[in-house]
Amino acid sequence: MAGTPLAVFQLELDRLHGDAAVALADISDAAAIEAARIEFAGARSGRLKAAQKLLGELDPADKPVGGRLFNETKAAVARLLEAAQAKLGSHHAEIEPVDVTLPGESVALGHVHPITRTIREVQEIMGRLGFESVDGPEVEDQWHNFEALAIAAEHPARDPLDNFYLSVAQAADPLLLRSQTSTVQIRVMENREPPLRIVSLGRVYRPDTADATHYPMFHQVEGLLVEPGTTMAHLKSVLRLFASSFLGGNVHVRFRPSFFPFTEPSVEVDMEWGGRWVEMGGAGMIDPAVLEAVGYDPDVVTGFAFGLGVERIAARRYGVDDIRDFYRNDVRFLRQF
Ligand code: FA5
Repeated sequence: MAGTPLAVFQLELDRLHGDAAVALADISDAAAIEAARIEFAGARSGRLKAAQKLLGELDPADKPVGGRLFNETKAAVARLLEAAQAKLGSHHAEIEPVDVTLPGESVALGHVHPITRTIREVQEIMGRLGFESVDGPEVEDQWHNFEALAIAAEHPARDPLDNFYLSVAQAADPLLLRSQTSTVQIRVMENREPPLRIVSLGRVYRPDTADATHYPMFHQVEGLLVEPGTTMAHLKSVLRLFASSFLGGNVHVRFRPSFFPFTEPSVEVDMEWGGRWVEMGGAGMIDPAVLEAVGYDPDVVTGFAFGLGVERIAARRYGVDDIRDFYRNDVRFLRQF
């Protein structure tokens, strides 16, 4: 049989087995095991793969024997690799014992951004007052951002210089990045019947120049309550309760007469901050025209709405005197929260 293709094949298998045993005898790291695995058992160019090709070239009569020899060698190489792996594992266990009684090491993890934290806290406080959290889209149409809120076509609030329009100005109903969360009031009232108590927090966009109290992208918290018999006294109570839960019992809240096209009467809500009054948002009783526009009967239900600036209340809460700090991404600032 010496020199026959079967003999050459068997010799190659013996050599392969021997070489694998030598290569894996004194292995000390995982990279060496991986290198040996590729050399002997690699799917594309491993030595077993090459031997398999030789098997295909054997005389048909020799193939059953050749196949058995090949399978034995393949299994032997797999056992050698497994043994080396197991040895490496126990070796590691020997040199790296874990003392579970030692105190743990701290790992620096990221944490929630102060604005996200504020949003969650506002949702939690308002939830306790019975207000359900809802979301609305950030890309809006003219109806939800303006018309349903009684902001007529010629109103300066619709000026292209005061909004981020997304489609060309000539379009009949240009979409825009919403400039206020009051859009969500309309979306909810259009789809649900009173009684309603909802709160919605999200991003709004205005081309305002950034300064200590303004940013072109900011967040608002919108509150809406529609129930028969709702009055301005309920609005004031809810805002005072919210302010004292969020900022602490001693915060002063002031309501100044104001104007919004979709509320009547309307107020500006100020809170005292560092000895001065800062405007936190707007509020008012929902105008009967708005209730009618969404299909409610203003003789049956009344309601109030408010919209506060989240960055402003967060700044008041954390003693931050410039809301731009929330968006500078300076980790030294963010780590403080
Ligand atoms: C409104 O946006 C009304 N939708 C509020 C409202 C809701 C009134 C429901 C009545 C009923 P105003 O434009 O005043 O109102 O904005 C509300 C608050 O958002 C401001 O008081 C301020 O706290 C905050 N705000 C406004 N512009 C910016 C800005 N560029 N950066 C940060 N906060 C801002």
